[in-house]
Amino acid sequence: MPEFSTPHSVKKADSTFTQSEMIRSIRFAIAAEYEAIQIYEEMAENINNKDAVKLIEEIITDEKVHVGNFLQLLRILNPEEEEFYKEGYKETLELLEK
Ligand SMILES: [Fe+2]
Repeated sequence: MPEFSTPHSVKKADSTFTQSEMIRSIRFAIAAEYEAIQIYEEMAENINNKDAVKLIEEIITDEKVHVGNFLQLLRILNPEEEEFYKEGYKETLELLEK
């Protein structure tokens, strides 16, 4: 989610991101998308207006697509990282099979 607690959060940087900064910013964006999903799900569960809930649920779906957008971008820009995720997938399956 955007950080509004300091005025520097909207200040344009003096230079563009390095490769590692860009990758970190994408990870941050993925986390922000998950945070948005959490907030909107909580809203949908607690708002007593059918139309508003319908819209929020549509936005939740959009945010999940955004997670996929950023994950795919991360895969393209930092393919080595996916190996760690694959290791986690495999490890989980092995643990669940026990
Ligand atoms: Fe989003």
